[in-house]
Amino acid sequence: MINKINETIDYIKSVTDITPKVGVILGSGLGEFGETIENSISIDYAEIPHFNATAVAGHKGKLVIGKIGNTACAVFQGRVHAYEGYSLDDIVYSARTLKFLGAESLILTNAAGGINSDFKPGDLVSITDHINLTGKNPLIGKNIAEFGPRFPDMTFAYCEKIRGIILESAKEINYNIHSGVYAAMMGPSYETPAEINMLRVLGADMVGMSTVFETIAANHLGLNVGGISCITNMAAGIEKVQLKHEDIKDEANKSIKAFCNILHRTIAKL
Ligand code: HPA
Repeated sequence: MINKINETIDYIKSVTDITPKVGVILGSGLGEFGETIENSISIDYAEIPHFNATAVAGHKGKLVIGKIGNTACAVFQGRVHAYEGYSLDDIVYSARTLKFLGAESLILTNAAGGINSDFKPGDLVSITDHINLTGKNPLIGKNIAEFGPRFPDMTFAYCEKIRGIILESAKEINYNIHSGVYAAMMGPSYETPAEINMLRVLGADMVGMSTVFETIAANHLGLNVGGISCITNMAAGIEKVQLKHEDIKDEANKSIKAFCNILHRTIAKL
């Protein structure tokens, strides 16, 4: 595994001499953020050794490295998901690559279904914590000590400092961002209304099919993690309508401006 990562790192370093301080993984419909980076270079995932090109519509499959203000950053436009059949090692590969490139922080973004009735489609939410209901964990198996400890702490899974910076950045543009707990389900089917009721009782504000594996691996690596969800739909049963992936993509488009602005300001402060 370490050898694989080193091959990936060697390739990326042959393309750019920028050492990213902050990494970003962009979720469904949010890839546009990658285009806002200054003096950037862009590499197709397909060209990077050991990287998987993503198959889901709404993902670009490119790594963009450049600067935001004075902060060097690496932005992954799209991720692979467990529901596509990828291994959890593949899913957390970008987080591990970032750490070995020298990054200190990772901001994870995703599209999510709203459970909290204060939320509406198009809203952005700063992730305060998560509930991993997938029954899986990327750290299962022999612990790789170069990555981190056998039993990593998750008390501060979403770094308080980064959460504060996200809220401050939203305030600067008078954007009313929410804060909430993200529940992860395996997918690819959306949840049933009964499952959404269960998630609400458990304390979840939104639901999605990604992010938690990367958060766990990033905490293992000692990276500081931040997270932003874009609410693309109200979760199943909250409104009496069927959920369609196409509608969900369109909703992400509506909040893309505020999303890019908040993320830009957040990264510049890190
Ligand atoms: N459920 C799970 N994942 C999602 C949803 C949802 O309602 N919306 C966007 N991603």
